[in-house]
Amino acid sequence: MRADPAREAAPTLAQRLFQRPWFVALYDRARESRAAWLTCGLTFDAEAAIHAAALARAPGRRFLEIACGQGSFGIAVARRVPGARFFALDLSAAALARAGKKALARRVAGRYARVRGDALRLPFLGGAFDGALCVGGFHQIPEPRRALAEASRALRPGGVLAGACFCLGPALTRPFGMNALAPEEFAGWLRASGFERAECRRTSPIWFVFEAVRGARA
Ligand SMILES: C[S@@+](CC[C@H](N)C(=O)[O-])C[C@H]1O[C@@H](n2cnc3c(N)ncnc32)[C@H](O)[C@@H]1O
Repeated sequence: MRADPAREAAPTLAQRLFQRPWFVALYDRARESRAAWLTCGLTFDAEAAIHAAALARAPGRRFLEIACGQGSFGIAVARRVPGARFFALDLSAAALARAGKKALARRVAGRYARVRGDALRLPFLGGAFDGALCVGGFHQIPEPRRALAEASRALRPGGVLAGACFCLGPALTRPFGMNALAPEEFAGWLRASGFERAECRRTSPIWFVFEAVRGARA
């Protein structure tokens, strides 16, 4: 892994915000509060249960969390899926520090390893994982199709990719350097990256959840 992946390309405004501890703390509080329902159409617990159920269908328990941020969802899945072991990756040192404290407080630190890195160049061998989780990541990672190809590479055949994204229009995403994604288009990108049974389901006008299985030939 490179020493400081965040410095390789000019970070977007959204990426810069997530480097700030105060912003990560604010986001963390909002993400696990009842306010999540207003944006995602799901409470935090309901959404965590969806991702846990998807990853419980994976052929093993070695999981990768891509763009883990403050760790809310990977940690919730680790608590719900017996035997789950995570490598949680993010660009932001501030987010990883907060995820570490959360994993300790929620008693899964031994099953939730953290690594600073770039979703566009995952520092793992091909086929290393049985499942991957990415909540709120693909709309923020520049070049989301490349990030999907990397996720596909990191999964073994039959591995499950689960997660969720904002589907906001360009007027709201562009100023932050984020991607305007649409669930139908995203399902096509999943298939193009070697995933089968790609399902994207809107849970609110601006949020969708997805699940897909990595095919034998990516
Ligand atoms: C909206 S937050 C989502 C955090 C968490 N997964 C959640 O659902 O609450 C997006 C995260 O993506 C991370 N991120 C953005 N670009 C990235 C990249 N290229 N590689 C890894 N992480 C990235 C940011 O640092 C931030 O923590």
